[in-house]
Order: sequence, then C-alpha cells, then structure tokens
Amino acid sequence: MKMQKRIGILTSGGDCPGLNAVIRAVVSHATLTYGWEVLGIPYATKGLLEQKAIPLRVHGLDLRGVDPLLNMGGTILGSINKGDTLNHIDEILASYRALELDALIGIGGDGSLAILNQLRTAGNWQFIAIPKTIDNDVALTEYVVGFDTSVNTIVDALNRLTFTAASHDRVMIVEVMGRSAGHLALHAGIAGGADVILIPEIPYSIKDICLHLHELRENWGRKFAIIVVAEGASVASDSECYPECEKTRCGIGQYIADEISCCSQKQIDIRVSVLGHIQRGGIPSALDRLVATAFGKAAVDLIAQGDTGKMVGWHNGKVEAIPLSNVLAQSPLLVSANSYLVETARALGIYVGK
Ligand code: F6P
Repeated sequence: MKMQKRIGILTSGGDCPGLNAVIRAVVSHATLTYGWEVLGIPYATKGLLEQKAIPLRVHGLDLRGVDPLLNMGGTILGSINKGDTLNHIDEILASYRALELDALIGIGGDGSLAILNQLRTAGNWQFIAIPKTIDNDVALTEYVVGFDTSVNTIVDALNRLTFTAASHDRVMIVEVMGRSAGHLALHAGIAGGADVILIPEIPYSIKDICLHLHELRENWGRKFAIIVVAEGASVASDSECYPECEKTRCGIGQYIADEISCCSQKQIDIRVSVLGHIQRGGIPSALDRLVATAFGKAAVDLIAQGDTGKMVGWHNGKVEAIPLSNVLAQSPLLVSANSYLVETARALGIYVGK
C-alpha cells in the first residue's frame, strides 16, 4: 500500500533554465508513482514564512494537453536571491509545521542550499537539495541544472560577435557572469573560440594580453580577437593606464578595454559586450532538461526511502545522493588553475593568465 505524503518544493536564488523541468519531474513522479500531494512554495523561504503554498498536479501543469514546463525558462514558483531568512527561523519552522509538510525539496545554488540546510537542521526536516546555478560552483556533482544552457547562450553570442569582429578587425570583449567562479567563462570561452579567457582564479597581466594580441596580428594574421572575461576577475597587478578605474565602478570588461586601448596607444579598435541576465534566460538545453528530470526523479525516490539530508549530484553517468553538509563544506567550487580545461585552453594558444 502506498504511504500518502505531502511534500513541498521551492526554487531559491537566481533563476536559471531547467527549474521548471525539475518541478515537472518531481510532480509527475511524486503523484503518478507514489500518489503523494505536492505543494509548490512560491518565492522560496519568503513563501514559507508567509505560509503560502500552491497545489501542483500533473494535469494542471499542461496547456491543452501540451506540457510547457519542460522547455520553459525561469521558475513558475518564483524565487528570491536576497532576504533575511535567518532572522525568521522560528517563524519559518512554525509555517512548515502548519503546512503539514512531510518533506521538502529545495532547488538552489550553494548560498540558498546553505540557508536551507540551517533550516533543515533546526527543524529536523526531511530535506533533499537539487543543485542549480549558471555559475556551476556547487561541489561534488559533475552537472548542475542551468549551467549548460548558459554556456550555450554565451557561445551563441561569441559566434555572432566573431563575425562582426572579423569584419572590422576589432577586439571584442565579452563580460560574462559566474560570481566568484570562472567556470562559465572557461567553458564558453573554449567552446566559443576565445583568444583570451580571464577568470577570478588565475591572475593575468595586461602586458601579456597586449603581447598576445600583437602576436595574433603580426604572426598569425588574425586581425581580430575575442576576449571572454568573468565578472569576478580581478584587476591586473600591472594596471598602469587606468589605476583609478576600479572594476566595481566601470565593470571588468570596460576596465580591460581601457587598459588594452592604452597599452596599444589606441591602435586597437575595441568593443565591450556585457551579456548580463541574457545568460540566465532562455529555453533549457537538452542536457539541462535531462539532468533536471533525473535529479527530480531521484529526489522523490530519496524521500520515499527516507534517505534525506542529501543533495542529488551527477557522478559517473548516474545520480547519487551526497550528504548536503559535505557539499556545502566544499562550495563554492572554483576553477583549479591546473585543471584539464585550463591546460587544454593553453595548449590551443588561448591566453588564460599565468
Ligand atoms: O549566481 C547566479 C548569478 O547569475 C551570478 O552569476 C551573478 O553574479 C548573479 O547571479 C546576479 O544576480 P542578480 O540576479 O541579483 O543580479
């Protein structure tokens, strides 16, 4: 006989493509396989605090027979990436009890999962975490929901910029997200044919970049170049021209542009594109849908087995359950300066710092 449960699901932190695909998988599996009730908690812990919940049913999620959730960006539940959750722990725990939840699935990045883990511990919740973030900085999983689509979005932008850069012999600087991690810049930069990739984890030199651009032009006849810079990259230690231009004021992309313009005596024509929240939008890629679906299914099974306090992670072609505290102890996961991808980029003549 099936044991009737009521589970909650929420999305927390910055949105990304694939969140709705997770919700879809959780609702389908929980209701069809186990006969459970699923409540969507709007706006993450804010919704919990306000004791809000939306019943989610598999047949309420379709549109005239078409299921839109698989390929819809964003999150139908809404999300917050700021707030003072930890000042309201007791109220949130009381709301959780009032909603009579047996378990909760939280979809979030490392910041949100750390907060939810504190609530879980305080309330002794049956909790499963599902990792999502375009930054790809959650430890102990090979994939997170959202990263692949974002990489593809950046690569698409680089494809477009390459042609216009080549037509005008320009240097195109593309500033991408990633917070303190350089995964987005590194993956998209390699896949999109960048000549220079600057990430927070690896120091670089303005002089080396200028030399690299010069060599591309003089030795290889490449009169244009693509530079991908992560938003979290630091100002170079050999900044000479615009020491007053701190990246918080002018943006790291513009800062690099100013420095290159100066060190080339304004001989290089440079343009800067800041991709911004375009990187968070759009239709989820096939890989993100697949990972979202597998994670959603696994999260429900773990609750059924009573194996909670875990995060689902991808490892060696399958989903594994990892103690959430182990994940948080190693997050945010940064790019290792001697990682295989950094080595690969360097082998292809991409300047990735020193
Ligand atoms: O963590 C995801 C992310 O998109 C980061 O890459 C970026 O720094 C940040 O969120 C932007 O946050 P917001 O949506 O608050 O501007």
